[in-house]
Amino acid sequence: MTTTEDTTYRPTTRRLGDTGPTVTSPGLGAMSLAGVYGPTDDAESVRALHAFLDAGSTLIDTGDFYGAGHSELLIGRALAERSREDAVLSVKFGATLEPGGMPTGFDARPERVATSLAYSLRRLGTDHVDIYRPARLDPDVPIEETVGAIQEQVEAGYVRHIGLSEVGPETLRRAAALAPISDLQIEYSLLSREIEGNGILATCRELGIGVTAYGVLAKGLVAGRTGGARENFPRFQGENLERNRALLEQVQGIAAAHGASMAQLAIAWVAARGEDIVPLVGARRPDQVTSMLESGAVHLEAEDLARIDAALPVGAAHGERYPAAFMAQLDSEH
Ligand SMILES: NC(=O)c1ccc[n+]([C@@H]2O[C@H](COP(=O)([O-])OP(=O)(O)OC[C@H]3O[C@@H](n4cnc5c(N)ncnc54)[C@H](OP(=O)(O)O)[C@@H]3O)[C@@H](O)[C@H]2O)c1
Repeated sequence: MTTTEDTTYRPTTRRLGDTGPTVTSPGLGAMSLAGVYGPTDDAESVRALHAFLDAGSTLIDTGDFYGAGHSELLIGRALAERSREDAVLSVKFGATLEPGGMPTGFDARPERVATSLAYSLRRLGTDHVDIYRPARLDPDVPIEETVGAIQEQVEAGYVRHIGLSEVGPETLRRAAALAPISDLQIEYSLLSREIEGNGILATCRELGIGVTAYGVLAKGLVAGRTGGARENFPRFQGENLERNRALLEQVQGIAAAHGASMAQLAIAWVAARGEDIVPLVGARRPDQVTSMLESGAVHLEAEDLARIDAALPVGAAHGERYPAAFMAQLDSEH
């Protein structure tokens, strides 16, 4: 009898923090489906979401402000043809927009929570969100008030877990003192290792809060992708761009030795940083989803990790993560 080896990669699972849901890793970030990094095709975006779910993957992250609701509508379309229970939906709220879709600030007042959630549920075509989180700390609203309002929605059954995004150690502590926090969503990649040096990762670990890492592909830079809103990011500009490319080139040999792409190396590296970390990847085409999931087959050795540490230590990147006005809005950077 002959057997055919099944080489299809099956996603692994990880629990988000001590109190959060169990999800598959890596998760899918649905921001670029809304055209943030360049033009998209809706039918292809839905195919990408289906490719992810059909592989048995669960965690999909979005924000109600990604394309002013467009990302959520695409997820709703994709889920209409699949089982809602197959997905774990993480939704951010609080960013305010002008009618053209440009961001204007943040509003995470308690009264905003229920209304934002009502619209998200309708766009997603569901009766609950698995993880609901403010996209940023609203400087005018104590975190206890925002988290308290989400907790009310947990008690009402519309939300399962509470998450946070881009906040620092003190805010993490205050929020966790009030309610169980499943995970912190924050940038973490080969080029963005700030959370290792500023106490954020250590605080998450101390408090039993998981990390959903975003920008794992350095917003596409590890794969040589540029354009769209990325042109506004300092790391994609002028001399910074050339120097960051040169930094990444130093680890290309490690990817090649594993028969992996640089994107797969970048995902595997974040996944290797701890069982409490789940990489989120902004794959927006079916082939990118497949390549993202196949990163699970890349097992980095201690020697690889040491070479990466030497080439890309904390603080190696050239340029800030965001333009100055956006950096000023990050509680995680204060
Ligand atoms: N909490 C927050 O503050 C925050 C902020 C930003 C993002 N996020 C979340 O994190 C997710 C990911 O972040 P991100 O999209 O900024 O960064 P990313 O995952 O580092 O980069 C995404 C870009 O990388 C390229 N790409 C995707 N899959 C690829 C693959 N398999 N191989 C090669 N290139 C690939 C695509 O570029 P092209 O489009 O050029 O093809 C894509 O737009 C977002 O979707 C969102 O859900 C959260």
